Parts: sequence; C-alpha cells; structure tokens
Amino acid sequence: MHTLLLLFSFSTLLCPFFNLIPFVEARRTKTSFTIDLIHHDSPLSPFYDSSLTSSDIYKKAALRSIARYALNKNNNKSSESVVFSIAGIGEYFTKVYIGTPPIERIVLADTGSDLTWVQCSPCVDESSCFPQDSPLFDPNNSFTYTPISCTSQNCTLLAQYPHTCGNSNVCEYLYSYGDTSYTVGELALDSISFDSTGDVTFPSSIFGCGHNNSVTTFNSTKKATGLVGLGAGPLSLVSQLGDQIGHKFSYCLVPLGSNYTSKFKFGDDAIISGNGAMSTPLVTNSSAPNNYNLNLEGISVGNNTIQNNQNSSNIIIDSGTTLTYIDASVFNDIVTMVMKSSSIEAVKDPPNPFRFCGSFKGSVSSVEVPDFVFHFQGADVALPRENMYTFVDENLVCLLLLPNTELNGVSIFGNLAQVNFQVEYDLQGNKVSFAPANCTKSN
Ligand SMILES: *[C@@H]1O[C@H](CO)[C@@H](O)[C@H](O)[C@H]1NC(C)=O
Ligand SMILES: *[C@@H]1O[C@H](CO)[C@@H](O)[C@H](O)[C@H]1NC(C)=O
Ligand SMILES: *[C@@H]1O[C@H](CO)[C@@H](O)[C@H](O)[C@H]1NC(C)=O
Ligand SMILES: *[C@@H]1O[C@H](CO)[C@@H](O)[C@H](O)[C@H]1NC(C)=O
Ligand SMILES: *[C@@H]1O[C@H](CO)[C@@H](O)[C@H](O)[C@H]1NC(C)=O
Ligand SMILES: *[C@@H]1O[C@H](CO)[C@@H](O)[C@H](O)[C@H]1NC(C)=O
Ligand SMILES: *[C@@H]1O[C@H](CO)[C@@H](O)[C@H](O)[C@H]1NC(C)=O
Ligand SMILES: *[C@@H]1O[C@H](CO)[C@@H](O)[C@H](O)[C@H]1NC(C)=O
Ligand SMILES: *[C@@H]1O[C@H](CO)[C@@H](O)[C@H](O)[C@H]1NC(C)=O
Ligand SMILES: *[C@@H]1O[C@H](CO)[C@@H](O)[C@H](O)[C@H]1NC(C)=O
Repeated sequence: MHTLLLLFSFSTLLCPFFNLIPFVEARRTKTSFTIDLIHHDSPLSPFYDSSLTSSDIYKKAALRSIARYALNKNNNKSSESVVFSIAGIGEYFTKVYIGTPPIERIVLADTGSDLTWVQCSPCVDESSCFPQDSPLFDPNNSFTYTPISCTSQNCTLLAQYPHTCGNSNVCEYLYSYGDTSYTVGELALDSISFDSTGDVTFPSSIFGCGHNNSVTTFNSTKKATGLVGLGAGPLSLVSQLGDQIGHKFSYCLVPLGSNYTSKFKFGDDAIISGNGAMSTPLVTNSSAPNNYNLNLEGISVGNNTIQNNQNSSNIIIDSGTTLTYIDASVFNDIVTMVMKSSSIEAVKDPPNPFRFCGSFKGSVSSVEVPDFVFHFQGADVALPRENMYTFVDENLVCLLLLPNTELNGVSIFGNLAQVNFQVEYDLQGNKVSFAPANCTKSN
C-alpha cells in the first residue's frame, strides 16, 4: 500500500506510537475530503488484539455495543439530565488535528452523538482523565483557542445537556453517553483539521475541552484521546460544516477484521449514484435528536416478507453499533422463517450476545440460509449473506440480528449490516442512500 509511505513522512516524532498507525492523510478537492475510519478490531487499530479469532471479534464487538446501552436500560436517569443518546462509544477511529499549531489526536468517529471533544489539561484531578500516551491538549498552547461564553448562542446548542456558567463566564458542559461514559469541560472554538498539512482546516469549530472524562473502553490502550461527533445534532461537526460540505457525507465500511481502512467522505465526493443506488427519507424523532432515523417498513427473509408494526417503523442507522436490533415480534417471525427455509437446527443456548444460532453438519459452504432484504421506505436493501450471518466456532451459524428488547426497545440498523455498501447521508435533502459496493476495492 503506497499510502503507508505517505503517512510515515508526515508522522510526528513526538508520539512514536502514531508511526504504527497507518492512517492515510485526508485528501481535499474544493468542497470534498476523505478521512480513514479504522475499526476497533482492525489489524490497523491501536486496540488490535492479534490473539482474537474472527468469531471472538464478532462477539466482543457485539458485547461492546450492548454495554453502551446499559445505563439506559438499568438506570433511571431522569430524562432531563441524560438525553437518550444511543451512542456511546462507537467502533471506528480516525485522526483530527486541533488548534494552532495543530495537535494530532486519535479520536472515535461517532455518527450517534454530536459533541466533538478531547481531553484537555488540566484534569480536575489525577483520576479524572483516562490514561493517554500523548500529552493532553493544552489550550494555552493554541493561539486560536477561544472559550465560548455561557451567554453565547453556541452554548445553547448543548440544549438537552446540562450546561452552566463557569469561571469567567465560560460555557461548561456535562455530556454523557448510554454506557456511563462522560466528559465534563468547557465549550470552545478552535481550528479543526483533517490532515496534518492544513489543507482541510475548519477554523472556529466548536468542540469540548474535557477536564473530567471517563470512557471505559479507552482505559487500556492509552491511544484514544476523545471523540469526533458526526451525529444529527446541531453541535455535530457535519452540522457545523454545513454548506461547506454541501450537507453531505458518506461512508463505505470494509468487513470486520479487514486490514484495509473504511472511507468516510465529506462534500461532493460523498455523492453516490449509478446502479443500485436507493434512497429513503431521514425522519426526525424528538426522542433521538442526535441520531439518524429511518422508516423500516418490513424485512424479507427468503421469499417471505414480515411487515413492521406501523407504530414501530422507526430505526436508527448507526455506524457505531455492531449488530442490528429490531422489534421483538418481528425478530421472532424472522427466526421462524429462517428455520423454515434453511438446513440448520436452532441451538438452545446461543453464545452471548447472539439470540439465534443454528448448528449444521458438514462444511460452511454447504450451509443453506435465506437472504435478507430490508425494506426501508422507498429503498429495498438486499444484504449480502455475511451482513446477517456469522459463523461461530466450528458448527454454528448465528444471526447478526437481535430483538430490540436488548436495547430498551430501540431499533438500530448496525454497522455489520452496512458493510460493503456506500451509505450517503444528505442532510439537506433529508435522505439516506445505499448502493452495493466493494469497500475494499474502492480504497
Ligand atoms: C425506574 O422507574 C420506574 C418508574 O418510576 C420504576 O418502576 C422502576 O423500578 C425503576 N427502576 C430502577 C432500576 O430503579
Ligand atoms: C493556562 O493559562 C492560565 C492563565 O494564564 C493558567 O491559569 C493555567 O494554569 C494554564 N493552564 C495550563 C495547563 O498550564
Ligand atoms: C467528574 O464528573 C463526574 C460526572 O459528572 C462527577 O460525578 C465527578 O464528581 C466529577 N469529578 C470531579 C473530580 O469533579
Ligand atoms: C479506568 O482507569 C481509571 C484510572 O486508572 C480507574 O479509576 C477506573 O476505575 C478505570 N475504569 C474501568 C472501567 O476500568
Ligand atoms: C459559533 O460557532 C460557529 C462554528 O460552528 C462559529 O463560526 C461562530 O463564530 C460561533 N459564534 C460565536 C458567537 O462564537
Ligand atoms: C492485509 O492482509 C492480507 C491477507 O491477510 C495480506 O496479504 C496483506 O499484505 C495485508 N496488507 C497490509 C497492508 O497489511
Ligand atoms: C422462492 O420462490 C421461488 C419462485 O417462486 C422458488 O423457486 C424458490 O424455491 C423459493 N425459495 C424458497 C427458499 O422458498
Ligand atoms: C399505533 O398508533 C395509533 C395512532 O397513533 C394508535 O391509535 C394505536 O393505539 C397505536 N398502537 C400501538 C400498539 O401502540
Ligand atoms: C423515536 O425513537 C424512540 C427511541 O428510539 C422510539 O422508541 C420511538 O418509537 C420513535 N418514535 C417514532 C415515532 O418512531
Ligand atoms: C472486494 O475486492 C477485493 C480486492 O479486489 C477482493 O479481494 C474481495 O474479494 C472483494 N470482495 C467482495 C465481497 O467481492
């Protein structure tokens, strides 16, 4: 991969570990640029664990996405203090550069939340920042860092999150996620770039300078330093960039475990067209304002179609959730259909987190299972088999689909279902488009 050479020439001497992470530099045309997404378990990831088997990777990824909903499910946080955020801490990492001079940061790229933030010095005390190898972002070292006043319009963009007037009237926030992660700090403006050369720089971007942060999954690696919010809320970077990116972005996710990066495109390059492109409306849902919501009218399994209950057509499309979650009754019908038209036998206690697995005799290639079509309003998305089934252990095949009772009734179209599709979000046209693709090839 020639891109590796490119990277090494740009990497910083300050933090040697960055050298190990082959992020490609963002490329820019007039209104377009592309960044790399690295999956948590990719060999390219700072979190990579080479001892995991492919089926371990699926299980762990699925368990992470359930863990981040634990708070919503088990705790009675009053609705005024915690907005329902499906996100928590997602699955993909990227690099951003913050401040002047720009400081490189490895951050989670999350389409399920909107605040971009990094850990900032000083931490309120020793235990209130998660460990990171690189020095904390020091606002004093950035010439362009400007705290946002609590009387500023921009502070009110925190709408559903607790925010107060701190010292010198700065806008102080508390932003929390479904998995008990949080960041507390001040809202500020500074330059955010997507490449070290400054070709793709957005001066005066709103971000959170976090002085008290907790992200369970960041504890062990010391690489991640924060998050870039790409969700639907007003603070989201895609909302802030708005006209500059034509209100459009897209991604193309490579299969789990691939050693290629997934591409995330902003602006005109994000537009997909041609054979097989289908669009469905983005719908608003006030209980999930930071999320991208679609209408799922039904699901076909082989030759049979199961209609979604009219009142439960809403489903969040998310890149940070691993599995897909649907209505429990639809799930049960699907299991029946799968059983009817396949050669597998349901097992009694499917391995966590799966809820349906079938055993089979013989080789993997001899297993017959029905294909899935997701019928979004206006878009019938036919999924490749590997987007809905995974082989676990020696003789089990499991559905990458769970009843949404696992997530307190929230339905989510997760990232494994979206692998090898170009998925375009048009936030002005209010639609999401899908086109089948080989995301490895389009690298
Ligand atoms: C949550 O609140 C509901 C209604 O107020 C109550 O019935 C339930 O027991 C509470 N659950 C927990 C875990 O506190
Ligand atoms: C940044 O500067 C302010 C004001 O000069 C000072 O109070 C603060 O301690 C400095 N922060 C750091 C991390 O050095
Ligand atoms: C950090 O924020 C959390 C969440 O709001 C809070 O419980 C904790 O007390 C804060 N820690 C410090 C040292 O202020
Ligand atoms: C993360 O690390 C901090 C400090 O090392 C520790 O206090 C905290 O309990 C850890 N959290 C988890 C979930 O491991
Ligand atoms: C509010 O934030 C935007 C960036 O989203 C910035 O361009 C603008 O200058 C900010 N306004 C104020 C008053 O700080
Ligand atoms: C990716 O993996 C394939 C097969 O496992 C290997 O042939 C290739 O060299 C790897 N590429 C990189 C960039 O590591
Ligand atoms: C689906 O319908 C077609 C055409 O009617 C038929 O040939 C095929 O066997 C059916 N498939 C299943 C799995 O029932
Ligand atoms: C579905 O929505 C209709 C109209 O809003 C309402 O009358 C009906 O009770 C709802 N049904 C369920 C099962 O929630
Ligand atoms: C809005 O989202 C919530 C949470 O995802 C869901 O329970 C509800 O059914 C959705 N509302 C509509 C109208 O679809
Ligand atoms: C995608 O393209 C790559 C590289 O050409 C190839 O190895 C892979 O098998 C293709 N994947 C699919 C699903 O066609």
